[in-house]
Amino acid sequence: MKILVTGGLGFIGSHTVVELQNEGYEVVIIDDCSNSSEKVLEGITAITGKKPLFEKLDLKEKSKVEDFFKRHADVEGVIHFAASKAVGESVEKPLLYYENNIGTLVYLLKELSKKPKASFIFSSSCTVYGQADKMPITEDAPVKVAESPYGNTKQMGEEIIRDTCKVTPNIGAIALRYFNPMGAHPSAEIGELPIGVPQNLVPFITQTGIGIREQLSVFGDDYPTSDGTCVRDYIYVVDLAKAHVVALQRLLAEKNKANYEVFNVGTGKGSTVLEVIKSFEKVSGKKLNYKIVDRRPGDITSAFADTTLANKELGWKAKYTLDEAMKSAWDWEKKIRN
Ligand code: WQD
Repeated sequence: MKILVTGGLGFIGSHTVVELQNEGYEVVIIDDCSNSSEKVLEGITAITGKKPLFEKLDLKEKSKVEDFFKRHADVEGVIHFAASKAVGESVEKPLLYYENNIGTLVYLLKELSKKPKASFIFSSSCTVYGQADKMPITEDAPVKVAESPYGNTKQMGEEIIRDTCKVTPNIGAIALRYFNPMGAHPSAEIGELPIGVPQNLVPFITQTGIGIREQLSVFGDDYPTSDGTCVRDYIYVVDLAKAHVVALQRLLAEKNKANYEVFNVGTGKGSTVLEVIKSFEKVSGKKLNYKIVDRRPGDITSAFADTTLANKELGWKAKYTLDEAMKSAWDWEKKIRN
């Protein structure tokens, strides 16, 4: 069975391609390589022994998307990762985000609507909750006004899929709301490859640990949390990748209870920034150079998932601890810098 993975050369996409291949699916990747590299194909192949089909293609080009689906009429499922995802950049360039994240989604859904049956997994984000009122966050927590165009594209994406599925019974769709993905494949053949200065905490920590960055700035220690630093739900990328496969299998087996469903994908546990730093120091044996600075505008105090629904309906639960995920991130950092 052939599955399309858009953005399949990216961080979460590449780990999901590996898990799909491990389950015996034939995978075709579409990626425009704007934020990834074809070299990732070698890493995937090194792990699974199977080189996925790959087409370098810009999903903003409608005719190219139509042509792809004509040539790959046997695609039965799509896992859609391809999107721009830098929160800060989205504030400066909103139209780039609306064109790239929304326009492409519409073209994909138009193609899937033509099929007798199609399964669609959408990469969403806990960012849709904003600062939720209650922890842990359940799927029925209110979706707040997005803090950024990036977050808005995730909210709009979910609404577009929901509205499409209402009138297109042949599409079964699941949106997975990720919390904070981190780490790298245990083989260290694939991992996170942030371009430029990392925006996210974990790659900045490992780059500071290896000496590429001088010092980590901790954005604020005056939040109402156990140690004053923000709380997030850091989920190991392999756990997250496996969640995509079980969600897809739910649709392929028509076990879904509605043709549009939403699941949180996190560990269910919150960790503060200082606890993440401690985890790095424990697994690496190195002291991390960091300083406390002012809060980062737009940061929320706390977000961690209630994963009851995914545990129950998908039969999926995160297996790896923060330390195990951090070790994989550190092993990866050391490998790519040698
Ligand atoms: C985590 C914590 C920072 C960097 C983002 C996106 C979200 C999702 C996950 C895509 C915060 C602190 C960070 C640093 C720091 N992405 N921090 N120093 O902001 O929770 O979520 O990534 O779906 O949409 O918004 O992740 O890793 O940037 O920050 O102190 O150099 O680490 O303040 O508390 P975030 P993050």
